[in-house]
Amino acid sequence: MLIGIVSEARRGETRVAATPATVVQLVKLGYDVVVEPGAGALSSFPDEAYVEAGARVGDPLAADVVLGVNALSSLQLDGLKPGTTVMGIMSPALNPALMEDLAKRPITALAMDAVPRISRAQSLDVLSSMANIAGYRAVVEAAHVFGRFFTGQVTAAGKVPPAKVLVCGAGVAGLAAIGAAGSLGAIVYATDPRPEVADQVRSLGGEYLSVDTGDAGEVEVSATGYAKEMSTDYNSRAAELYRDRITEMDIVITTAQIPGRQAPTLITAEMVALMRSGSVIVDMAAASGGNVEGMVKDEAVVTANGVTIIGYTDLPGRLPAQASQLYGTNLVNLIKLMTPDKDGRLVLDFDDVVQRSMTVVRDGELTWPPPPVQVSAAPAAAPASAPAEVKPAGPQTKPPVSTQRRFTVVGVGATVLFLLAALSPSALLGHLTVFALAIVIGYYVIGQVHHALHTPLMSVTNAISGIIVVGALLQIGHGDTPNGAVVTVLSTIAILLASVNIFGGFAVTRRMLSMFSRS
Ligand code: NAI
Repeated sequence: MLIGIVSEARRGETRVAATPATVVQLVKLGYDVVVEPGAGALSSFPDEAYVEAGARVGDPLAADVVLGVNALSSLQLDGLKPGTTVMGIMSPALNPALMEDLAKRPITALAMDAVPRISRAQSLDVLSSMANIAGYRAVVEAAHVFGRFFTGQVTAAGKVPPAKVLVCGAGVAGLAAIGAAGSLGAIVYATDPRPEVADQVRSLGGEYLSVDTGDAGEVEVSATGYAKEMSTDYNSRAAELYRDRITEMDIVITTAQIPGRQAPTLITAEMVALMRSGSVIVDMAAASGGNVEGMVKDEAVVTANGVTIIGYTDLPGRLPAQASQLYGTNLVNLIKLMTPDKDGRLVLDFDDVVQRSMTVVRDGELTWPPPPVQVSAAPAAAPASAPAEVKPAGPQTKPPVSTQRRFTVVGVGATVLFLLAALSPSALLGHLTVFALAIVIGYYVIGQVHHALHTPLMSVTNAISGIIVVGALLQIGHGDTPNGAVVTVLSTIAILLASVNIFGGFAVTRRMLSMFSRS
């Protein structure tokens, strides 16, 4: 089959649906590739690079599969032959007119932005790959406008404080922004109604600011694992938090979105007025209405108090080469999924939840919206019935050992040690002292090792057990010495105990490995 790569019809689009590197992968899957002249020029991929990669330059609309970054224009759609499959970012929920237009034609259309957010589909998830780039670029745009350092410095000419950055919404774009701002040296704060993102924020060096939900309890999460539209109560508490903290922020990046809805307003004009002159706000949700009052889509505006509000909607396109590479890889992964025999033949499997979700039109029949997909990110519903027994909260602890029992154990141990010392020949006394001290030190050292380090600890004890076995083997069978029988018995016991440790270690490792192998 022939795959065609179009030159984007949308004004200002800098990305392209395939790069020379992804063309190589498409050819490996058995396809022929034709690229429209100049398609990759704005992403710095000249036509010759595509030819070198194995494509030819020509008319992409004559192909069996046509790839674009955006939906094809009506003019481009008119040029397709019947039975063509088209793939691109189509925003089907926001584009009913496009859906109707596609369904009028005897073609199949797959929307790259309709990938369900499940682990298996992550390699095709265009929204994530583009949001990741956009989050990074939002920080770069903010840094470009912000007239100061992000990082704090102590110089001979004086101290420079670090910039403070607030990221509202810690999804894919938000997390990328937190990482980028942190790596430039800023102090980063983040909010999100989903409390489970707090750890992710911290792992990127940010501080999670939680909105006090009071008696309202936990935030409701949709079946797709993302926050639902927030209650008025939550919104007013969040507004309080923003009002309190915004005065100290230099940069605010907002990314809050509720899939399929108008973006919520988080930062009001009144809050913007509280910010210092020179501060910058990047409203990443500009395309879906924006999170910031006063934002103008696709523009950077400066308010009366000197705050710049950026509402660019083309952030991924501002890094066109890499955005094209990641988008092209998402497409290759989809095509790989749809080419089970790697023979250059595209097969649409409607029983596969990923392909079903992305298909908006099949052979001229509208198949959007798809049936809902339950993703693992959503918490399972709590059982309706009350649990029979309510256990106290907190970790389960062993009952403490009584003082009397402790003294008895120590007393018995001391007596045994005394008898051994009294009855042993003087040569053995030194060894016994070392042995007793080793037990005490070993007990306390190993007892303090964190659970997470038990596996490396086990390999160390296995190595020690190996040494013990070798030592005991050298001692065994020396029956001609006065204590020969005792040495043989002790060596046998040592070999036995050390072997339990070694073989037990192997058994535990095997069990752990089997937990990762597919059944
Ligand atoms: P996402 O769905 O992964 O993350 C959105 C986050 O917002 C979620 O974590 C959600 O819990 C949070 N959120 C929802 N309601 C909120 C509220 N009231 N307050 C605070 N947080 C709230 O989305 P993703 O992929 O990270 O995209 C984020 C935004 O960036 C979207 O609006 C998307 O359209 C936009 N975007 C913009 C681009 C541009 O060029 N400007 C390019 C790519 C994405």
